[in-house]
Amino acid sequence: MKLFTTIFYSIIFLSSLFSYYFFKKEKRRYKDRPKLPPGSMGWPCIGETLQMYTQDPNVFFASKQKRYGDIFKTHILGYPCVMLASPEAARFVLVTQPQLFKPTYPKSKENLIGPSALFFHTGNYHACMRKIVQSSFSPEVTRKLIPDIETLALSSLESWANGQVINTFHEMKKFAFEVGVLSIFGQLSKKYTDKLKENYSILEKGYNCFPTKLPGTAYHNSLTARRRLNQILGEIMKEVKEKKLLANNLLGHLLNFRDENGNTLSEEQIADNIIGVLFAAQDTTASILTWILKYLHDDPKLLDAVKVSLHMPVTLVYKGVLKSFSSTADGRESRRHFVSLDMEENRSLTWQMTRKMPLTYRVILESLRKASIISFTFREAAVDVEYEGYLIPKGWKVMPLFRNIHHNPEFFAEPENFDPFRFENPPKPNTYMPFGNGRHACPGNELAKLEMLVLLHHMLTKYRWELVGPSDLIQYSPFPVPDHGLRARFKKEF
Ligand code: HEM
Ligand SMILES: *[C@@H]1O[C@H](CO)[C@@H](O)[C@H](O)[C@H]1NC(C)=O
Ligand SMILES: *[C@@H]1O[C@H](CO)[C@@H](O)[C@H](O)[C@H]1NC(C)=O
Repeated sequence: MKLFTTIFYSIIFLSSLFSYYFFKKEKRRYKDRPKLPPGSMGWPCIGETLQMYTQDPNVFFASKQKRYGDIFKTHILGYPCVMLASPEAARFVLVTQPQLFKPTYPKSKENLIGPSALFFHTGNYHACMRKIVQSSFSPEVTRKLIPDIETLALSSLESWANGQVINTFHEMKKFAFEVGVLSIFGQLSKKYTDKLKENYSILEKGYNCFPTKLPGTAYHNSLTARRRLNQILGEIMKEVKEKKLLANNLLGHLLNFRDENGNTLSEEQIADNIIGVLFAAQDTTASILTWILKYLHDDPKLLDAVKVSLHMPVTLVYKGVLKSFSSTADGRESRRHFVSLDMEENRSLTWQMTRKMPLTYRVILESLRKASIISFTFREAAVDVEYEGYLIPKGWKVMPLFRNIHHNPEFFAEPENFDPFRFENPPKPNTYMPFGNGRHACPGNELAKLEMLVLLHHMLTKYRWELVGPSDLIQYSPFPVPDHGLRARFKKEF
């Protein structure tokens, strides 16, 4: 009996000792395991989606960053997410370890645009498509489009200056669409352009609505329009192939593509990538142009300085001169002088001239920063990832927050001020990402900047505009733009 008790107590003792060590070790292992970032996940299922959409999204992200730091978790649109508000973290996800994070979009959007469009892909297919898109929108190719972009800009401006109030955003969308079509197809007959325009405008209404296939809903109409677009694109491809019109533009490059085994792309792959580029090119460019009008309108001194700079011999355009021009009472006199210089030339914009519009260019850069229309992007962790001691679990969404970085006073002093002159010095590395960064960074950024420069040049040298009604509220469509798309009335000045 004594023996039995001894054994009994020894087992208890040993097992408790064992479990002590075991647990201690477990605990240590648990401690070494990275933990989830701080943050709140909100209510079950809907998480913090409501907060994000009912509050100003700027306020939502900024208040989280203040409370939890640069890395925090939340739960939106049905997914657990880790948000990253530091340049280093954004760089980690987009540039240094992109293979750990894949792009992710709602399935409903993928169905509308077309699943073969490059931004849904990674790996070899993405790299091939990206090479084609990049080479189709390189500066060498887009510079040849200047005269045609100029024609589009001039006819848009002409159509606005008829005394009517325009919705600036809508008009800029038409302009951006036409530039998109030009850069994809070259000169496309009006018959096709009109069909594309009509059907694309039905398609885009479905991008941000509830994805139900019930007949009569916007999403359903959108899918139908998408099928018609395939048909139209098919006709265009057939014609181009028959007439052997393969040109130095996106369609030409897509049709010419051969992979290492000599395989070509299917019509579906080509169509998806064309619709993808139209989607990426239109609302982005149009909303930045709309913001530029708003920012310039709100700062008459700056507007004057930009106008002066567009008429000045290039060498004179630097900060000191502009500051003194805009601060003297007779700034108007000097402007007139330079205007007459310009009128004598009366020639088209050249590539050289678009490169020599430093103040206008900085207005564009600053508008991209301040408006930060792409406030963040989405990736999904492909595996469990550890970053800065935190765990980002596989399957979680990861969101680099461009807007927070662009509005951080550490990187951009007095970030709420619209100050194009801040770009006289280049921003700190990895703090300025209006076009994203890394493998999926925007391949259309040169074209976007070029078409904005061309339109602004003609607008600022020949037109005046006034805003109609209040313009301080913001609408999300889904990019932020001033309410009602910024209503304005244009007049020809000279
Ligand atoms: C001001 C105008 C524009 C802005 C602010 C902008 C911004 C961006 C950003 C931030 C991305 C990266 C998204 C991500 O990493 O998740 C992107 C990608 C892309 N953009 Fe733009 N973009 C603009 C105009 C254009 C234009 C004019 C084109 C067409 C030529 C274009 C074509 C694309 C394409 C095809 C991608 C996907 C690239 C890939 O996944 O590899 N964008 N854009
Ligand atoms: C859409 O495309 C078709 C050709 O597929 C064309 O007949 C039609 O006029 C276009 N516009 C609309 C609104 O459907
Ligand atoms: C300048 O160009 C416009 C339109 O292209 C033309 O009507 C006008 O006559 C030209 N002016 C001069 C001075 O060449």
